[in-house]
Amino acid sequence: MKLMSSCELKESLEVVLNFAKEEKHTILIVDDEENNLQLLRRTFRGKYNILMAHNGVEALEVVKQHGDEISLIVSDQKMPVMEGTEFLKQVRQTNPQIVKILLTGHVDTDIIVAAINDCELFQYILKPFEPEELQIAVDSGIQKYSMASNNKVFYKELRELFYKTIRAISNALDTKDSYTNGHSLRVTLYSMILSKELHFDDAYMEDIEIAGLLHDIGKIAMPKSILCKNGRLTDDEFLVMKSHPVRGEKIVINIKKLQVISEWVKAHHEKWDGSGYPDGLKGEEIPLAGRIIAIADTYDAMTSTRPYRTALSHEVAISEIKRCAGTQFDPKLAEIFVSLSDKIDEARKNPELVYPKYSFLAKNIDFKVTSEESQARQAQQQTQSSQIA
Ligand SMILES: [Fe+2]
Repeated sequence: MKLMSSCELKESLEVVLNFAKEEKHTILIVDDEENNLQLLRRTFRGKYNILMAHNGVEALEVVKQHGDEISLIVSDQKMPVMEGTEFLKQVRQTNPQIVKILLTGHVDTDIIVAAINDCELFQYILKPFEPEELQIAVDSGIQKYSMASNNKVFYKELRELFYKTIRAISNALDTKDSYTNGHSLRVTLYSMILSKELHFDDAYMEDIEIAGLLHDIGKIAMPKSILCKNGRLTDDEFLVMKSHPVRGEKIVINIKKLQVISEWVKAHHEKWDGSGYPDGLKGEEIPLAGRIIAIADTYDAMTSTRPYRTALSHEVAISEIKRCAGTQFDPKLAEIFVSLSDKIDEARKNPELVYPKYSFLAKNIDFKVTSEESQARQAQQQTQSSQIA
């Protein structure tokens, strides 16, 4: 049997100690009387990690340093320098997750109610009190803290799962059509670059990203014979292909969180002059996000190799966007897109690398495209180019 080196032993010990530390909650006790502090420390030290402070100002410093570790605060009300309620009010602002218990000599209900509301107190305890009373309050406060943080973790995991599912659908879509591989990802990226310039709020940016990833979801319903046809589509085939925005809308509208973007998915082939499909919407009748995706979508179509033509250069595609401003595209958005030409070109050359810089979903999950995925894509694109040549 191989013996552990002293270094490995130290590392293992640290892991065990950290684990044990994580299992134990930390409470902060604030009281100006040293005797009280020590009494409370002795009461709780077996069960919890203890931090101590003698007044509000000192306690704020402790919260500043260890706020993420503290689950609960027990604070006395009457202290010099800063009173308990003032201290807890400030903690409410900076660390709302910490559960707060106030020890007070006041019996005035108005003062107590104000303290509960202002500080978001979990409980107040009137002095003098029995130690068991405080123990019960602290234990149930810790229970409340644990439940809240478990819910937070659960919500985060749910959100992560949701975004990973969207990404998986988008990837599946991108690989279904071998000629437009990576299309949804690039369209989303160009849409985000343009949107960033318009200073939307985070929620709208997230929706734009989801809409970009799913804008062609209706193509899932398209027969492969049409989607991957090695040549131009006939009129009848094009008619079938033109149904994908409406099909996409119908898929997306059924998912409650995605209802907002269903209109955008439907509108991504509308044109500023009203000559687009499916509804022939004109100008600002077209949802703003639909107009953004339309520019990104057309730019990507032009700069990608298709069965019937090789890719146009970035410069030619940009001059086409400029030429079609006011007819096919929203003129203001087209102008901004053209002004972002360098950023768009950089993104086109290396979409996987640039994507995380603009992604809002990436803030919630590890969203990196793996190098294997990236290599597989490149290999597939090379095969397509050689087939066409
Ligand atoms: Fe489309």
